[in-house]
Amino acid sequence: MSDAYPGEVLVSQELLHERIGELAKQISADYRDRDLLVVGVLKGAVFFIADLVRRLDIPCELDFMAVSSYGSTTHSSGVVRILKDLDSPIVGRHVLVVEDVIDSGLTLSYLLRNLASREPASLEVCSLLTKPGHRRRGLETRYVGFDLADVFVVGYGLDHAERFRHLPYIAVLERGTEPPQV
Ligand code: IMP
Ligand code: MG
Repeated sequence: MSDAYPGEVLVSQELLHERIGELAKQISADYRDRDLLVVGVLKGAVFFIADLVRRLDIPCELDFMAVSSYGSTTHSSGVVRILKDLDSPIVGRHVLVVEDVIDSGLTLSYLLRNLASREPASLEVCSLLTKPGHRRRGLETRYVGFDLADVFVVGYGLDHAERFRHLPYIAVLERGTEPPQV
């Protein structure tokens, strides 16, 4: 039996669709004459990146990285490991990193330092969600879907111990026994 379940919906499917359309429009305008490489951070960003790039009206290439941060708990371990690196070099390319959520910002600041050392022409971040912690860290995130309060959320790619990624919306993770459906 599980002791965690998705509760209140914070971002509905409709709201995701609307906001992702706005982000895609902005990114398409900003990268109009540039050779864009979109780098997705696995696994949380897969739904977001898939929906985002399909609404760009400029050409782009895709690559993916996988890093570990939390393990299966809801607290940052501070340990970031590259589990899967990019397939190709990014020197001289315009790189847009697509993340699911920036919480403490530990994962992203590590990733950005690592990618910057490979000398891309430009390096920007698009995160679907941000939480208050990253603002303390002073990370520059050019594109943000939604600013959240300090709550743990699941759905639309975000998991708790690998569960709930498949939900089409973003909901708060609740603890305890799931209440009966009415
Ligand atoms: P950070 O290093 O604290 O910024 O954490 C970033 C990573 O932690 C994200 O890429 C997620 O994998 C995970 N994470 C942080 N907050 C949440 C959440 O609310 N739900 C699910 N995963 C989260
Ligand atoms: Mg992630």
